[in-house]
Amino acid sequence: MSDWTKSSWRNKPRIQMPDYTDAAALSAVEAQLSQYPLLVFAGEARRLKTQLAAASRGEAFLLQGGDCAEAFDQFNSDSIRDTFKVMLQMAMVLTYGAKVPVVKVGRMAGQFAKPRSANTETIGGVELPSYRGDIINGLDFTPEARIADPQRMLQAYTQSAATLNLLRAFSTGGFADMKRVHAWTLGFTDSQEIQKYRELASRIQDSIDFMGAAGINSDTTHEFSSVEYYTSHESLLLEYEEALTRVDSTSGKWLAGSSHMIWIGDRTRQPDGAHVEFASGVQNPIGLKCGPTTTAEDLKILMAKLNPENEEGRLTLIARFGAGSVGDHLPRLIKAVQEEGANVLWTCDAMHGNTIKSESGYKTRPFESVLREVREFFGIHQAEGTIPGGVHFEMTGQDVTECTGGVHAVCDENLSDRYHTACDPRLNASQSLELAFLVAEELSALRESREV
Ligand code: PEP
Ligand code: CO
Repeated sequence: MSDWTKSSWRNKPRIQMPDYTDAAALSAVEAQLSQYPLLVFAGEARRLKTQLAAASRGEAFLLQGGDCAEAFDQFNSDSIRDTFKVMLQMAMVLTYGAKVPVVKVGRMAGQFAKPRSANTETIGGVELPSYRGDIINGLDFTPEARIADPQRMLQAYTQSAATLNLLRAFSTGGFADMKRVHAWTLGFTDSQEIQKYRELASRIQDSIDFMGAAGINSDTTHEFSSVEYYTSHESLLLEYEEALTRVDSTSGKWLAGSSHMIWIGDRTRQPDGAHVEFASGVQNPIGLKCGPTTTAEDLKILMAKLNPENEEGRLTLIARFGAGSVGDHLPRLIKAVQEEGANVLWTCDAMHGNTIKSESGYKTRPFESVLREVREFFGIHQAEGTIPGGVHFEMTGQDVTECTGGVHAVCDENLSDRYHTACDPRLNASQSLELAFLVAEELSALRESREV
C-alpha cells in the first residue's frame, strides 16, 4: 500500500480492459480528463461511508440500484427521473418496514463499462470483439462499432456530469419532498403495487400532517424536504478512473472522483490484479462482488488489501450467488469475515447469479429467482446472527419487459415487447416496487425476531 500511486495498477495483470490501438489518441483523452472537474467531492464520499457504516451495524439499510449499463442513445431526463422516483418509492417502503434510514445509491452517472464472459461474439459466422459498454465501444454488430475508441470516455464523462446535475436537482430542489409521497406515483402504470404503495403513502401523509400540526415540517426539517442520493459504478476502465483520481485537500487522501462509491466486479477481483490495486488506494467506499468462486482465502486477502485499517463503511461485500446457491457459499464467507474480525457491510445482489436464456432467446431473470435469492440471503444472516445490510438490483423506472414474472407477469413471449437494455435484464418499475414490499416484510420480520 505504501508504494500505491493512482497509476500503480498499470504494473499489475489487467483483464477485461480494451487494448486501445491508437496510443496517442488514448493519451490525449487521458490528459484532457485529468483537467476536468471531479464529478463528486470527497466530503460526500466520506458521508456515504458513515452511512454505510451505520448499515453494517443494522442502523440503516442500503438500496443500490439502476441500469446494468447506461447507454449513450438512451440518455434522457425522463428515464433518470423515473429511476430516481422508483428508488424513492422503494426507499419509502423499506424505511417503513425496517424502521431505519435507507441509504440510496444509484448505479448511475458512470455505470458504462462492462466485463464480458467472452472476448468475441459470433453471429452468422462473423466474429467481432464483444461489446464492452458505451464508454469503450458500440453495441452495433459492425467491425467499426466494436473498435475500442478512447473518445467515448469524454462522452461518458459528459453524460455522467449531466446525470449527476439532474440527480442533485431532484434530490434537493423540492422533487423529493416527502409531502410529494403521493405525487411520485404519477405517470406510472396502475398496478397492484402502486395501489399498495398509495395506501402506505396515505399512512405516511397522515404522519406528516400530524407532525406538521406539531410544527415539524419541510420548512423546519431538512430531512423532510430533500434526500441524499449517491452514485456508484463498477470501476473497470482504469484509464478513465485514474484520470479522475485526485488528492483531496482536506484529508490529503486520494479520491476516485468519478463516483461516490466504486465496486470491483466478480471477474476482476484477483487479489494481485490491477482492479484491486487501484481500489486499494482511494478513500471512497468500495464494493466487492462475491460469487460462487470467491474462496475464503481470497476474501481474507482482499479484505486486508482493501480495508487494512478495518474501517467501518469502507468495504461492502455484494453477495451474488444465485437462487438456490446462497446456502452453499454465504456461510463459509461469513465465517471468513468473522475469523478476521473484519468490518464489512453485507448486501445482496439478487440479479447476477440469476441470468438465464429464455426459450425465445432473450437473456432474462425470473422474478421468482430474484426474490428467492433475497430470502435466502436474509435467512442465512438470520441463522448466523449477522446483519443483512442492503440489496443491489438492476432496475429501471421505465415499463420494460426484460425480467419475467411479478404480479403483472411478464412472460417469455412478452420479452420482445419492450426489451431495451444494452446489457443485462432489469426489473421494471412495478417489479421493483413489488420487490421492495417483499424485502420490507423480511426486514420487519427480522426486526421483530431480534426484538423478542
Ligand atoms: C454488474 O454488476 O453489472 C456485473 C457485471 O456484476 P458481476 O461482476 O457481479 O457479474
Ligand atoms: Co449487470
